[in-house]
Amino acid sequence: MNSLISFLFATLTFATLLLAEEGFNFITIGDWGRTRTAGVPNKQDDVARQMDVWARENNAEFVLTLGDNFYPDGVFSADDEQFETKWRNVYLNPYPSLRVEWKISLGNHDHRVFTGHYQVEFGKTEPLWELPSFNYTFTKTFGDTSVFFVVVDSDSLYWLVNDTLNEQVSWLDETLEQASADWVIVAAHHPVYSSGHHGSDFGMIDDVRPILLKHNVDFYLAGHEHDLQHLNGPPGDSIEYVISGGGGASARPQNEIAVEDLKDMNVTQKMFNSINGFTGIKVKQNSITVEYVDLEGTMFYSFTKYKN
Ligand SMILES: [Fe+2]
Repeated sequence: MNSLISFLFATLTFATLLLAEEGFNFITIGDWGRTRTAGVPNKQDDVARQMDVWARENNAEFVLTLGDNFYPDGVFSADDEQFETKWRNVYLNPYPSLRVEWKISLGNHDHRVFTGHYQVEFGKTEPLWELPSFNYTFTKTFGDTSVFFVVVDSDSLYWLVNDTLNEQVSWLDETLEQASADWVIVAAHHPVYSSGHHGSDFGMIDDVRPILLKHNVDFYLAGHEHDLQHLNGPPGDSIEYVISGGGGASARPQNEIAVEDLKDMNVTQKMFNSINGFTGIKVKQNSITVEYVDLEGTMFYSFTKYKN
């Protein structure tokens, strides 16, 4: 019996090591903490249900939020009940698969009445709520591969909630300068390019995109738009621009003026879908795949970026 147990243990350990060598998977959602009517399900609950399915099937390691975590005006203290009603009760309590680390980005609604710092404070007592500061980094490794994540508080770039624009852009530049990972992923609330309700953010295009290009960032993940998008920049720009803002807030239609702006800038809209949903991201040594999932759990679009 002992030898059988040893054999099973060795097999399990080997399988775990193999999995660890292969990569990891995670989920992104933006624009999710909806105003709720007690007992009434909403689109946020529907998205959560499909996140659970994807997380179970793909063993999601963490959830990365892309801001607007709490509508309409953020939280008002580090023990605001919205952490329960709009987060724990929606994701963690019903779904063990979502009791993983949540890497948090802040959006304009989180900062609206200058209370974003309460979400940082909450993270000091809740181990699954990872928000050490408004801007921060983390690294994931497997085998010989490393993935460097930079979370940028894009709302503070222009509304001066945090540091000044120049200080933050310098921080981003210096942070990316030191990055030596195989993959670099930047996450923020405001998109660079978009054909959604708000359209492209010309401040981000002028101030942030040059830094992303300078440091060969692989992916720029954003929310803010209540839709799901994939865009490629003008020729010479190899960043994959992903918008995953369908976490619960009402989906919005495409903006025709923003569509024309993209054409004028030579930006390619690979996919636009005005629906609620999320993205599941699969990281491997030589490829990263982004899967877009709707409220029925259908993966209606995906793409893969390869690297040698
Ligand atoms: Fe927003």
